[in-house]
Amino acid sequence: MSKLILHSGPTFYDDPDISKAYWERRKRGLGANTLLEYPIFTELVGSVQGLRVLDLGCGSAQYGVELLNQGCEAYVGLDASVNCYEMARETLAGTSGEARFGTIEEIDLQTEKFDLVVSRLALHYIEDLEAIFQKIYQCLTSGGRFIFSVEHPVITSCNDSYVEGQIRGRWIVDQYFVTGRREYDWLNGKVVKYHRKVEDFFLLLRNSRFRVDFLREATPNREHFATEEEYARWVKVPIFMFFSATKS
Ligand SMILES: C[S@@+](CC[C@H](N)C(=O)[O-])C[C@H]1O[C@@H](n2cnc3c(N)ncnc32)[C@H](O)[C@@H]1O
Repeated sequence: MSKLILHSGPTFYDDPDISKAYWERRKRGLGANTLLEYPIFTELVGSVQGLRVLDLGCGSAQYGVELLNQGCEAYVGLDASVNCYEMARETLAGTSGEARFGTIEEIDLQTEKFDLVVSRLALHYIEDLEAIFQKIYQCLTSGGRFIFSVEHPVITSCNDSYVEGQIRGRWIVDQYFVTGRREYDWLNGKVVKYHRKVEDFFLLLRNSRFRVDFLREATPNREHFATEEEYARWVKVPIFMFFSATKS
């Protein structure tokens, strides 16, 4: 009964029922990740030709294969879910990409250099981002970029409007300025995430000496949606937020 267990980010994706539901959704390919997160993320990343890329919270590492096909020089995908790590290993088999098991909090990057660090929808599971942003800054080459997406703070502020099995038509934003730990119901499970304000991400980056180049929200593009009705659903609230920053 996954409902009763309070998960961390990685253990959430290790729960067999939750994992099955999550990856089935992703495979269907017409959800928010594909229609809203992917287009903006790939636009921010641009060309990866010749870059060494680190992907924190890589999931199945499908993105790694894409980056390798686009000419990145090296790809390392890290995940702390056993299930996701195994998937990543399988996905990257036969490529030069590397899957690593471990947490974003604990990965030691002191002896490695990357030109691009990406993290897609994983950092809202982490309590202390300051230490992580500093670690990322250190492992980047000069001019290297750090690009990440997170659930939008409007979404992480409050989960009271979520009802399992129902499509949300209205969202509640509440306790926005009360940051920190929250418990969220999702996919018949419970998971801990950390709510931060928009300005918190900005300041965290600035305090870690990054130059912030772009802040984006997942503004829906009508062309990506099959129907007007589906498009209308996503113009109501921002679901994802993105930052692109440079080690200058
Ligand atoms: C929403 S999934 C996204 C997966 C992938 N980045 C993508 O966009 O397809 C979040 C991923 O972050 C991983 N994750 C969450 N917290 C983590 C942590 N502290 N250390 C490493 N991985 C973590 C989870 O195991 C999961 O694979």
